[in-house]
Amino acid sequence: MEIAIEKTTTPKQKPGASELGFGKVFTDHMFIWDYSIENGWHNPRIVPYSPLELDPACTVFHYGQAVFEGMKAYRGPGGEVLLFRPEMNIARLNRSNERMSIPQIDEKLALEAIKELVALERDWIPSTPGTALYIRPFVIATDTHLGVHPSATYKFIVILSPVGSYYKEGLNPVSIYVEPHYVRAVRGGTGFAKAAGNYAGSLLAQSKAQSKGHDQVLWLDGVERKYVEEVGTMNVFFNIGGRLITPELNGSILPGVTRDSILQLLRSWQVPAEERRLSIDEVFQAHDEGKLIEAFGCGTAAVVTPIGRLEYEGQVIEIGGGKPGELTQKLYDTLTGIQTGKLPDPFGWVVKV
Ligand code: COI
Repeated sequence: MEIAIEKTTTPKQKPGASELGFGKVFTDHMFIWDYSIENGWHNPRIVPYSPLELDPACTVFHYGQAVFEGMKAYRGPGGEVLLFRPEMNIARLNRSNERMSIPQIDEKLALEAIKELVALERDWIPSTPGTALYIRPFVIATDTHLGVHPSATYKFIVILSPVGSYYKEGLNPVSIYVEPHYVRAVRGGTGFAKAAGNYAGSLLAQSKAQSKGHDQVLWLDGVERKYVEEVGTMNVFFNIGGRLITPELNGSILPGVTRDSILQLLRSWQVPAEERRLSIDEVFQAHDEGKLIEAFGCGTAAVVTPIGRLEYEGQVIEIGGGKPGELTQKLYDTLTGIQTGKLPDPFGWVVKV
């Protein structure tokens, strides 16, 4: 694919590693690809990062026809640029596209475009432990027509942001509120897709959790409000009596790339790992019986984040004595070691740019 490149004439000042939060600073360039029914995906281009000019009638503003992905680029020990299982994210983007009636993208070309943008912005990739260049591909519907219909035109855009850890706590345990009333998704809905609206619908419960002193929400299933689904921006694992349990993919849970990688790592270490229905009562009962050894969330942004506290229906439990659990720490170290090229990559996950 021939990507036209227009370079910025006003490069920005790059932030120091200590100034990085999550997703607040953006690099100098972005990638844009347009879609129309007549031309398919066309006009791939890298242009200076800048605001978009969009008609106020665009479908995305009214009916939320939008999907996104989250990936990271890392700096390897020899300065090389590394991506982690990028083909999984792009395949998931297409599954999200399908669910939201957005046309499929060519996955090979999308990866090529991401690599080209990241290569151009390689000086923006931080190298301090715990930092990376976050890659945010997204698709928005741009038809200017207020009838409720799938748009006939779209933009696929990729922006990049140098990031530190997602939570201010870093690798310190976070506190999670188990939401008893609001739900994130139901089977048959859009929960498995990275649809923008899933996150809009989560914000009220997120604010409620924060006002009660927690970092995020743990969602329960949308039918019985009984089974654990996922945390606001991460999949979730519980170590109950030495068995690692994560909710099975049932259509309302996001199929996380980090979740899948963790399951493969655990199985390669012969740690029993189960994907199954897990009720919140089972988690609290395991705690009462002294069997809840550790809990953690995982995702591209969150990496592996220990969960130190859970509140459900007025009952608060503490997990792990304020420290990451042993397996949580080992998974964090192994995963980030593979991602940054410091550890061998036995699964062939890392892709050089
Ligand atoms: C990611 O982990 O990359 C995500 O997309 C979660 C996010 C909404 C910050």
